[in-house]
Amino acid sequence: MSEAERPRRTEAAVDPMFPGRWSPRAFADEPLSDDALASLFEAARWAPSCNNEQPWLFVAAVTPEEKTRFAEALTAGNRVWAPRAGALIFVLARRQFARDGEPNRWAEFDCGAAWLSLALQARAMGLYAHAMAGFDAEKAREALGFPADEYAAVAAVAVGHRGDPGALPENLRRMERPNDRKPLAEVWRRGAF
Ligand SMILES: Cc1cc2nc3c(=O)[nH]c(=O)nc-3n(C[C@H](O)[C@H](O)[C@H](O)COP(=O)(O)O)c2cc1C
Repeated sequence: MSEAERPRRTEAAVDPMFPGRWSPRAFADEPLSDDALASLFEAARWAPSCNNEQPWLFVAAVTPEEKTRFAEALTAGNRVWAPRAGALIFVLARRQFARDGEPNRWAEFDCGAAWLSLALQARAMGLYAHAMAGFDAEKAREALGFPADEYAAVAAVAVGHRGDPGALPENLRRMERPNDRKPLAEVWRRGAF
């Protein structure tokens, strides 16, 4: 079993899908089918959200031309590996509630829930998803053409089949393995701060 496939040790019993999800950078240069994309976004669609607002909008690039356009918004470090993935996705958050136009300050929280649903569904389909904060918000707006007063780009996501880590530059190849977490005791407390 390769380092990349070895299950991560957990401190309590959980469904293996949680430690089984991780974020590789070596992707195969294979476009994702419309059916695969539909399943990823279907999973995301069932995420919970404040007032069931569903403030997420996923914009996907699959063809080389689309991916090149989206990749212009990424940082140089992410541009090295992400455009190879089967799809590049921007997660947009609708800034206002549809019902009354008031600012929705939970929109990004809800988009985070939807992204994780997508990432777990990707693993269930034998795919991997890797989120990115490394992009320029203004360039993303230009590349996608969304109205900045209505939507904010909260993250980019590369998703696809795993590729050959040997194709990565040396510095990224060394990082191409599942990482660890803080101890369980550091992330929750009972009763008070
Ligand atoms: C919101 C967010 C932004 C991230 N931004 C980047 C990024 O710009 N570039 C990158 O290579 N990884 C990025 N990551 C990946 C994280 O570094 C990774 O999820 C974290 O180290 C935990 O590792 P794991 O996903 O493999 O379990 C990001 C992840 C999230 C959730």
